[in-house]
Parts: sequence; C-alpha cells; structure tokens
Amino acid sequence: MLKVSNLVKEFGRVRIINSATFQIGQSEIVSLVGPNGAGKTTLVNLISGHILPTSGKIEYLGKDVTFASPYKRIKMGMARNFQITNLFEGSTVLDNIRTCLLSAQEKIHKAFLPVSHYKDITTEAIEILNIFGLSEKDKLLPASLSEGDKKVLDTAMAFALKSRFLLLDEPTSGVATGDKFKVMDIIVAAIRKGKMSCLIVEHDMDIVSDYSDRVLVLSEGAILADGKPSDIMAQSSVKEILFGVR
Ligand SMILES: Nc1ncnc2c1ncn2[C@@H]1O[C@H](COP(=O)(O)OP(=O)(O)OP(=O)(O)O)[C@@H](O)[C@H]1O
Ligand SMILES: [Mg+2]
Repeated sequence: MLKVSNLVKEFGRVRIINSATFQIGQSEIVSLVGPNGAGKTTLVNLISGHILPTSGKIEYLGKDVTFASPYKRIKMGMARNFQITNLFEGSTVLDNIRTCLLSAQEKIHKAFLPVSHYKDITTEAIEILNIFGLSEKDKLLPASLSEGDKKVLDTAMAFALKSRFLLLDEPTSGVATGDKFKVMDIIVAAIRKGKMSCLIVEHDMDIVSDYSDRVLVLSEGAILADGKPSDIMAQSSVKEILFGVR
C-alpha cells in the first residue's frame, strides 16, 4: 500500500529525516514512535505531501507520489489528521462530516442546491457519527465537545474522505488519560471495519502495544526498529531510546 525508500528531508543544513525506509501493507495498523523531535510529524508531512523530501521515494498503491500534491494524494484515498485538531468551528458536528463527504464527492461547488438533494449524504454522515459514537452530539458545535470527542470527530472527518490509508498524528494528544483507550477503541474499530491501512504517531507505549500490528521506532530521523510490538519493546536499544533505560 505504502512504500517509503531512503527518504531524506533536510531543513537548511540540518538533516531531520535520514534515509527512512519502510512499508505499510493493506489493512495494517502501524504505530510510529520516537522521542520528542525525532521527526515523526515531519515524516507524516512528507507522506501526506504537505512538505517535499530532499531525496528518496514515496510510492502509494504502486504509484510514485514523492512529489504529488496533498490534493492528489487525498484523491488517491490518503487522508490525515493534524497534531492539533482541524475542525470547522462554525459548523455542527453533523455538518463537519457532511462537508467531508461532499468534498469526497467533489460536490462542494454545488453547495447551493436544496438540502433534500443531499439526503444520501446526510444518511451517510449519520452512519459515520454512529460508527464513531458521536450520534447524540450531532447538533453541537466543536467548541462544546470534550477534547476526546474533538479527536474522535477529527478522525471521523478523515474517515469520511473515503480514505484507504489514514495518517494519524497523535490522535489521543490532549485527551484525558482515562479516556485515551476509549478514544482509541472507537478509532481503531472504525479503521478495522473500513479495512483501512493506518500509520499512527503515538507516545503512549501501552496504547501502541494494544492497538498496532507493527511498530516503527524513529530515532534521529532513521528507522531504528521495525516489528511486532512485543518484539520491539524487548529490544534494549529501543528501551534506551524511548525510556532512557537498558
Ligand atoms: N519547517 C521546519 N524548519 C526547520 N526545522 C524544522 C521544521 N519542521 C520541523 N523541524 C525540526 O525537525 C525536528 C523534528 O520535528 P518533528 O515535529 O517532526 O518531531 P516530532 O517527532 O513530531 O516531535 P513531537 O514528538 O514533539 O511531536 C525538530 O528538531 C524540529 O525543530
Ligand atoms: Mg510531532
């Protein structure tokens, strides 16, 4: 599904991503972990096309997308959230989802047609809110949601873009510790249901162990380890990088 080869990103003379190489398969949920400043968000930005690499290659669904625009990648079924949520604050929860569904169908330019024309869109938006456990909150504005619900809505919007591949940068950041697992349960169940592939940036190693098929450890811009969560956690070099212990 996604193949990243020898990817390098330099800002000025500083090399932030240093020859990163890895693959993500169909319906695979992969976590990306690493210390603060390791380059995780930069790697997500490179994959989504929000920044361009210095060298290396990104292939998605067998096509070279290294220099493709974010718009092109979204059209190919790639979607992302942002480390800080990106919601339409003036629209209700339901309308946030409807906007994404319309955009996925490229009907945004016909937005002045009667609402009845969009009955299907509304039905589908309600289904998505059901999947993500937000149906009772459909008429609320994002500002009145809890941090956890905001994160869930943000992911539901990426889901509504009809994605086959989701990039989630810290989907539980800012969520109260007690709610993190609940939020991940909802997000991961939706990803599995949609048979999507996903790369999740996450700090909490308990979450990583519970929800990922595979883990990539990023250290100083390079992939230090790549494997099953239990195997990765057992490696002393990984423990040292993540927790400062051997
Ligand atoms: N546009 C930029 N110009 C210059 N340096 C940048 C730019 N974007 C990121 N960096 C630097 O790249 C490094 C990696 O940043 P990045 O945000 O990718 O790390 P991260 O692993 O996501 O960290 P965190 O865990 O804090 O979210 C940091 O040292 C950062 O200062
Ligand atoms: Mg980051």
